Amino acid sequence: MSGVFAVRLSELAEGSVVKVVLKDVPVAVVRCDDGTVHAVGDTCTHADVSLSEGEVDGCTLECWMHGARFDVRTGEPLALPATRPVPVFPVTLDGDDVLVDVTTTLGEAPTPVAHAGKES
Ligand code: FES
Repeated sequence: MSGVFAVRLSELAEGSVVKVVLKDVPVAVVRCDDGTVHAVGDTCTHADVSLSEGEVDGCTLECWMHGARFDVRTGEPLALPATRPVPVFPVTLDGDDVLVDVTTTLGEAPTPVAHAGKES
């Protein structure tokens, strides 16, 4: 089990985002509309703005300041004015706990992340 506790899955609705600071790293934990959970650096690469104050749409996170949009699976910017990706951190689910490993950043390739299935 890697990573540290970030948020309870049951408190993270689909289509929502929450900011956490883990080991001094600001992280936006996103639950996509499809239920998957992803963690990216919370700071927009266009300017020093918290992405977790933006909107989740599908599996993207839109910066509220100027509208840059990032794919939270890859960190890649999908809309200007941001041109650089945000870091993507590995996510693990441990029951209801969402764990994020901020000591590792995933590459640009799409990566498997914890799949948040509906719990019974
Ligand atoms: S600060 Fe995020 S798009 Fe400009």
